[in-house]
Amino acid sequence: MCGIFGITLSSETTIGALLRRALERLEYRGYDSAGIAIVTPQGILIRKDAGKVAEVSSRYGFDQIRGATGVAHTRWATHGKPNQINAHPHSDCSGTIAVVHNGIIENYEELKSELIAKGHVFKSETDTEVFAHLMEEYERSGLTPWEAFKRALSRIRGAYALAVVDSREPNKVFFARNLSPLIIGVGDGFNLVASDIPTVLEHTNRVIPLRDGEYGYITPSSIVVEHDGVAVDISDRVQLIPWSADQALRGGYQHFMLKEIHEQPEALASTIAGLEPRRLSEVAEMLLNAKRVYVVGAGTSYYAGLTFQLGLIEYRIAAIPIISSEYSTYEGLFDVDDVAVAVSQSGETIDTIRAVRAMRERGVKVVAVTNVVASTLARESDAVLYTRAGPEIGVAATKTFTTQVALLAALHAQVGRIVGADVEPRMQGLKRLPEVVRKAIELNEGSAKALAERLKASASAYYLSRGLGMPVALEGALKMKEIAYVHAEAYPAGESKHGPIALVESKFPVIFVFSDPSLKEKLLNNVAEMQAREALTIGVVPRGDDVGKKLKYVFEVPHLDPLLNSAAFVVPLQLLAYYTAVALGRDPDKPRNLAKTVTVE
Ligand code: AGP
Repeated sequence: MCGIFGITLSSETTIGALLRRALERLEYRGYDSAGIAIVTPQGILIRKDAGKVAEVSSRYGFDQIRGATGVAHTRWATHGKPNQINAHPHSDCSGTIAVVHNGIIENYEELKSELIAKGHVFKSETDTEVFAHLMEEYERSGLTPWEAFKRALSRIRGAYALAVVDSREPNKVFFARNLSPLIIGVGDGFNLVASDIPTVLEHTNRVIPLRDGEYGYITPSSIVVEHDGVAVDISDRVQLIPWSADQALRGGYQHFMLKEIHEQPEALASTIAGLEPRRLSEVAEMLLNAKRVYVVGAGTSYYAGLTFQLGLIEYRIAAIPIISSEYSTYEGLFDVDDVAVAVSQSGETIDTIRAVRAMRERGVKVVAVTNVVASTLARESDAVLYTRAGPEIGVAATKTFTTQVALLAALHAQVGRIVGADVEPRMQGLKRLPEVVRKAIELNEGSAKALAERLKASASAYYLSRGLGMPVALEGALKMKEIAYVHAEAYPAGESKHGPIALVESKFPVIFVFSDPSLKEKLLNNVAEMQAREALTIGVVPRGDDVGKKLKYVFEVPHLDPLLNSAAFVVPLQLLAYYTAVALGRDPDKPRNLAKTVTVE
């Protein structure tokens, strides 16, 4: 996790303000501490501390600091407590080098001992600091900063995105990427590096995503990239990003999460308009010809994948769902005739990337479903289907879930079309989905806010459903625990009697998802069981259905088919989690201990 940024401009500016804005955009990747390093005629100026970007930046007057070259970092702590000393940037003994890093240097302990033996004095407990001292060590032996940077790189093992400034070469930012994401932003009179695309958009929409093992440096007018000591030609690697800078701003909403919930109709409309029938058809053929199909993803993306996996049963395709971090358990199955659908909003989640790499090593064909053009997952897959949700900044995935469900429903329909099923109703439903989701927000926002006032006093909640409603229940519970810190568990409703119901007592909230009408009667039996224990029963139900009368609180959603319903029925649960978090005084955009993109295993 962690976010890094580095920029070098042809003339001096209030670079502290520029770095502060970059950090605000990167903050979703980690917010334990923040810091900047700026090259000045007097040497490198470092300002850093524990706390959120706004606090640290106003404490140290970031906005007033001038310069032309600098790096910045927002941290999700791995090695060492989140305090000032462990905050990045880290520097060498003489203070001429400053390093920001996302990832983990696995062999830092042995390097640290070696450097201490040579007289280097370490200030922090982090793995990152070794890099500054390594460079210093090589510079002491007579190497130039660029040579020393390369030499230091050759010594470290692990995952890293690095940006480094050295006052001996004031107009350069050195960078390197291995496993952790890093892109170059190509500008006029400046160049920059950053962990993600939204951070770059204020300056440019021309980016070069770096590949594993690439490293180099930027100056205001040039970009040098190497791999294994050989120059890399990047002239045809510049990608134009179709997102605007405004899309990555809050636009009047209190939180990104609320903005992104409200953006869902638009995000769905773009995703549906952007469907590529030929690509869908190729992928559908791949799936139908596969010996085994896997659906792989983490967190919300896994749950979106589950809607597809369960939906495929309709066509007698028994796909195997795999949580990305669990892939090794299934490794023995992976084979050349298999196809995997890998779902990841960011396309950078390390667990998913690792799973995909293991699959491809054994000849499995991989289809990526991602929101980020040229992400690692997109580049490392055999085919790519893009959701077009725009940038998602809130740590809690919202519009990316609904667009993944929509895209996978379109793929599902394509499979159906080939096997001769009547998919017209689903395609009509897909067209209506943006409007249905708009209605789901409009109908339920007020009641979600009101119910949140009640739920904020609850320590736990159950989310129960059956069949295709299960991914929605799982996603609803994930939202509640990750942003409101209310213990929320999702179970198949029938399974609740095999243990979980023991916790249910008077006023215990139980939320039922009625998105699959064929399972309504059975689910109603489970409602009755919970009511017999005086639970507080809440339902997400089809609009106008009398099932609502059986529940204490009801969210009504216009009904499509059970697969598409996953995208609409989740909306009240997103709103409920959001308003419960707000009622409890939590920051839904920056839940504790989490980061938007998980880049450590
Ligand atoms: C969702 O709210 C979470 N923040 C998390 O589960 C997320 O979906 C997961 O980390 C996967 O991310 P990805 O889609 O970028 O791979």
